Amino acid sequence: MNEYIEIINNRLYTYLDIKYPDIISEAMRYSVFAGGKRVRPALALLSTKALGSDFNKTIPFACALEMIHAYSLIHDDLPAMDNDDYRRGKLTNHKVYGEAVAILAGDALLNTAYEIMTDYALESVDINSLKAMSKIAKASGIDGMIGGQVVDILSDGKIIEKEILTYIHENKTAALIKAAMASGAIMAGADDEIVRQFELSGYYLGMAFQIKDDILDVEGNASELGKSIGSDAKNHKNTYVSLYGMERAKKDYEEFSSESVQILLRLSLYNNDIINYAESLLNRKS
Ligand code: IPE
Ligand code: IPE
Ligand code: MG
Ligand code: MG
Ligand code: MG
Repeated sequence: MNEYIEIINNRLYTYLDIKYPDIISEAMRYSVFAGGKRVRPALALLSTKALGSDFNKTIPFACALEMIHAYSLIHDDLPAMDNDDYRRGKLTNHKVYGEAVAILAGDALLNTAYEIMTDYALESVDINSLKAMSKIAKASGIDGMIGGQVVDILSDGKIIEKEILTYIHENKTAALIKAAMASGAIMAGADDEIVRQFELSGYYLGMAFQIKDDILDVEGNASELGKSIGSDAKNHKNTYVSLYGMERAKKDYEEFSSESVQILLRLSLYNNDIINYAESLLNRKS
């Protein structure tokens, strides 16, 4: 995996080599290079590779996904949202740069993501790049991450139905993970049915990923996790653990993770790197 992460990091450095205004580029780089796991870009590259295609053409989309993810976290940590002071073992963006610059750094990362994707689409004249971009755009928007974040925030301190929690998790977290795998498959030139299978696997992986995030907020180790523990309880958040209990959360986590892997195992892939990677996420402590 280190090889993929290095490729992604190098390209992110190039894209974020913005000269002026230096405060915004510094704030953008601060969060992007704070030590995130690069799950979404890794999944995009591995999906292309699993289908026997060259992943170089997926790199712009992988980087765009990471920028959108980083922006979502900068905004998620703001006082108006989860009000968190630590992320990836460092002070959150607004704690270092102030709220105004943090908001703008998030906006700038979102915009830069689209600049990268549109530039690549124009340059490559490849219809698949437009299809990949469309998947990423929808997954990040109201029918995806933003929608999930809205309902998540509005549900704080309220008793909600389980279906609402499912909506929140599907959108705030699973949508981008699904889009990562779908865009990787699209860039490999996969047909619609294969793209659908990658999305389905990404759906289960994404749902499992958020359940684990909720579990770690209770049971994790702050120094390993790099973010404050107990943030969900502090914010009276509805989480998988608060609605279903820890035991069921762990059971469903295993089930969703295994479903994600099973879907990939049923496809005849060129290599199993993506399966090994999905399995490695099972034991994550951060
Ligand atoms: C954290 O995502 C937010 C969720 C959607 C659960 P990650 O756990 O992928 O965060 P980083 O990028 O590794 O810090
Ligand atoms: C965040 O969910 C999901 C996003 C889209 C940013 P959380 O609020 O649970 O993520 P953490 O725990 O702060 O990383
Ligand atoms: Mg949140
Ligand atoms: Mg949060
Ligand atoms: Mg969380």
